[in-house]
Amino acid sequence: MTTVADSSLDFVRLRDLLGASAGRFDVDHVAVCDSTNTRLLERAQRGSGSGTVLVADAQTAGRGRRGRTWVSAPGSSLSFSLLWRFPAAQRLEGLSLAVGLAIVRGLGKLGATGLALKWPNDIWLNGRKLGGVLVEVAQGARGEWATVIGIGLNLRAQPEWVEQIAQPFAALDELSQQAPDREAVLAAILEALLEVLTQFSSHGFVAFVDGWMSYHALLGADVSVEQHGLKRYGRCGAVDALGRLTVDTPEGEMHVFGGEVSLRAT
Ligand code: BTN
Repeated sequence: MTTVADSSLDFVRLRDLLGASAGRFDVDHVAVCDSTNTRLLERAQRGSGSGTVLVADAQTAGRGRRGRTWVSAPGSSLSFSLLWRFPAAQRLEGLSLAVGLAIVRGLGKLGATGLALKWPNDIWLNGRKLGGVLVEVAQGARGEWATVIGIGLNLRAQPEWVEQIAQPFAALDELSQQAPDREAVLAAILEALLEVLTQFSSHGFVAFVDGWMSYHALLGADVSVEQHGLKRYGRCGAVDALGRLTVDTPEGEMHVFGGEVSLRAT
């Protein structure tokens, strides 16, 4: 693991926490950047390898799904991206869902309870948004995939978030006054990601369907699904082997892919 001098991220502690997995990651930290995803997409172009991680205290242009802005506050959030490469033949459907599962598994190892996954890739705590995943993909000259897995999590709630965040949010400090520090959360998630991404390479999302279903926040709920300006209503069902969401509507069963889709409980 690379260490960067003069950083507020405790690299020695992070390496200790990662133990045997430390050698699989090359972690870098910056106080501020536009977006860790943007920076890693650039590094991917320059040939950086799987396991490259960039953590930022603050982002000036943090990105969320569906063109949204992602707000992160120094000391109160964990914002990082991980570069992971896959061969050209790899099917990537469901990757962001598998990443969500890795996050709840990692946080579960730290003792967090009340976690759920809101399809496609929101992390919920006690029914409110704790964090999110933005996976972006670039393809190399021979068709190989460079995926940038961006993760944002709220560690300690800040009063100003009430005005800045347009939906009910949660932060890890509501589980205990002493919210786990960034290093502990980062190490737990990276370890879980290592396991999940390795398994995903061999089997794809099908290996995670049961695991994902055990955290499915909206299973059986009445929902609306909005895609390409069209809103439909139905009952939320299971995810399938490609990570698509099944929704029973009066017109029949829909299989909804992720991407530019909005799912809401009604
Ligand atoms: C969402 O829920 O809409 C996804 C949020 C993803 C935010 C993370 S923070 C680190 C990485 N860099 C970004 O610009 N976005 C992701």
